[in-house]
Amino acid sequence: MFSIRLNASAIFSSATKAQSLHQAYRSFSSTSAIMSTIQDAIVKDHRELEQYYKEVVNSNDHDHQQRFGNQFTWELARHSVGEELVVYPAFEKYIGNRGKAMADNDRQEHHQVKELLKQFQNMKAEQPEFVPKIKEIWGLLSEHIKEEEEKDMPALAAALQDHKDESEKLARSFGRTKAFVPSRSHPSAGENPPFETVMGLLTAPFDHVADIFRKFPDKTVSPNPSTK
Ligand SMILES: [Fe+2]
Ligand SMILES: [Fe+2]
Repeated sequence: MFSIRLNASAIFSSATKAQSLHQAYRSFSSTSAIMSTIQDAIVKDHRELEQYYKEVVNSNDHDHQQRFGNQFTWELARHSVGEELVVYPAFEKYIGNRGKAMADNDRQEHHQVKELLKQFQNMKAEQPEFVPKIKEIWGLLSEHIKEEEEKDMPALAAALQDHKDESEKLARSFGRTKAFVPSRSHPSAGENPPFETVMGLLTAPFDHVADIFRKFPDKTVSPNPSTK
């Protein structure tokens, strides 16, 4: 009887956990559904990155810093390649020569950030270089983010003014692309498709499996990119 109760309680507890995971996933899915334009998708990622950065630099707890440092790496690696595969080609397609110049400049900035991220992603929070390295990344990244939000994305929005469907399509494509790209920095893969796409597909499964063994913030439902 005791064991039956125990089992019933274990089953109930598992079901409750599964339900709350399902609810968390559904609430994320509904957030995604509300997100309508590519600008919204990009800005949402930028705010998340800023939050993860602050969690690292405003804490003295190594475990907390490691978890959010991993989350920062995971999000930044996928965001960067997602932009290179979906957003920057859209600059070139819809804005013409000026769009091509914007994309080239953004790709160069991504490369600099990826080189630093590659160093950071292999560090332990206990190392004295951990916080200075993420601050160095943020110094470059925050300028890049400002440029994308104040100059590049408004230019794309203006070019897509009469093609709202296209902006929504790009947002969906950006979300899907982030699910299969690497979740760690690989600067040697480059920033230009299609070479980058092939390199990304080769390295992504290894990154995703290794993520299972990394620590992430407790509230993260799953570091599996397919849930984002
Ligand atoms: Fe970017
Ligand atoms: Fe960005």
